[in-house]
Amino acid sequence: MSDDTTVRGDDRAHVFHSWSAQGLIDPLPIAGAAGSYFWDYSGKRYLDFASQLVNVNIGHQHPRLVAAIQEQAGILCTVAPTFANDKRGEAARLITELAPGDLNRVFFTNGGAEANENAIRMARLHTGRHKVLATYRSYHGATATAITATGDPRRWPNEPVAVGVVHFWGPYAYRSAFHATDEEQESQRALRHLRDTIVFEGPATIAAVLIETVVGTNGILVPPPGYLAGVRAICDEFGIVLIADEVMSGFGRCGEWFAVDRWGVRPDLITFAKGVNSGYLPLGGVIISDPIADTFRERPFPGGLTYSGHPLACASAVASIQIFKEEGIVEHARTIGEDVIGPALRDLAERHPSVGEVRGLGVFWALELVRDRETREPLVPYNASGADAAPMNAFAAACKERGLWPFTHFNRTHVVPPCTVSAEEVAEGMSILDEALTVADSYCR
Ligand SMILES: Cc1ncc(COP(=O)(O)O)c(C=O)c1O
Repeated sequence: MSDDTTVRGDDRAHVFHSWSAQGLIDPLPIAGAAGSYFWDYSGKRYLDFASQLVNVNIGHQHPRLVAAIQEQAGILCTVAPTFANDKRGEAARLITELAPGDLNRVFFTNGGAEANENAIRMARLHTGRHKVLATYRSYHGATATAITATGDPRRWPNEPVAVGVVHFWGPYAYRSAFHATDEEQESQRALRHLRDTIVFEGPATIAAVLIETVVGTNGILVPPPGYLAGVRAICDEFGIVLIADEVMSGFGRCGEWFAVDRWGVRPDLITFAKGVNSGYLPLGGVIISDPIADTFRERPFPGGLTYSGHPLACASAVASIQIFKEEGIVEHARTIGEDVIGPALRDLAERHPSVGEVRGLGVFWALELVRDRETREPLVPYNASGADAAPMNAFAAACKERGLWPFTHFNRTHVVPPCTVSAEEVAEGMSILDEALTVADSYCR
């Protein structure tokens, strides 16, 4: 039996953690989890309003998903990607059946960064061009090209890594880069800016435009009306591959199988990970349209991974998709967002001066926290750390004390529970947020 002291001791002595100064962190040992909750060794329970890293879409320890993994472990744990395998093939078929249009093939990876890495590789080889356009407000993963494509500050200490990425501004009406006064204007001006960027970079040098369909960690930015269709049209005009990064927004998070479904837009490549199997095993991939797959019909694709299409991971994806369908989880995510989460957050906004904006869909919501609603001054500066980040740290601590695990980023808290969250659990979370927001309010001018 493990205990808090042993887990903490081994972790501090031997585990090297992501994105951290190793001496400044104190990771909480987790003893177990079920549904929308996880708990520590003292028995303290947390309502998981972060779905870990916005990936446990089916909830923790779903019994049927656990059983499917156990069953596959007894049949075949691993087989090289050179072979055909029943669960790999079935997972690819199910995923392509859900994907729009002619996206009929899947290249499996271990996660989201590798998916974007390989999507960009495909786009470059397909077009014979080298540049990739990506937005400033984005995260695409921590491997070489994916971190270069990333627009947020996690890129800075990694530079220079890859070449050929150009950043542009996506739409964000609340803090418009285009001085737009409404969503329609924001959409039109953001499209004009993208088109101008392409013209000045040289369309014949640009392989791909890479966008998060709904921007995740960098703000839950839901594209305004017409934007995605406009990006599709611009890509078509210049022969540019459109890559939709659905690593966070896909598989139920936006109340759709893929977020692009909400706007009826067909990308050339979709990257996925996280929600495909809720991270019960590492899995991601690229869904490939027929013309791009055809590029590699006679010509070898110069990329691969030992664990591409791992049978255990693929079996968990098959089971997860079946459970999603049978339990109506995508529909539940849509309706709980529209009927419960959205209205509850708008109610909080009415009572708390620190809430500048509420935005989102499905189980993918953000509260943008400000010091002043009129000026929209953020509660903490962009990329704040140390003393500058104190107000957000105090808000997060208030949530955790009360048994809610929040997802905070810069001056926002995201409300991103599992897609299976119940109305009662949402109500419990909202009452904790209500109390914790009084801490944020105390910093308002
Ligand atoms: C939109 C998006 N793309 C890519 C990634 C990278 O995925 P991974 O951490 O599995 O490499 C993430 C992870 O948070 C993400 O949110």
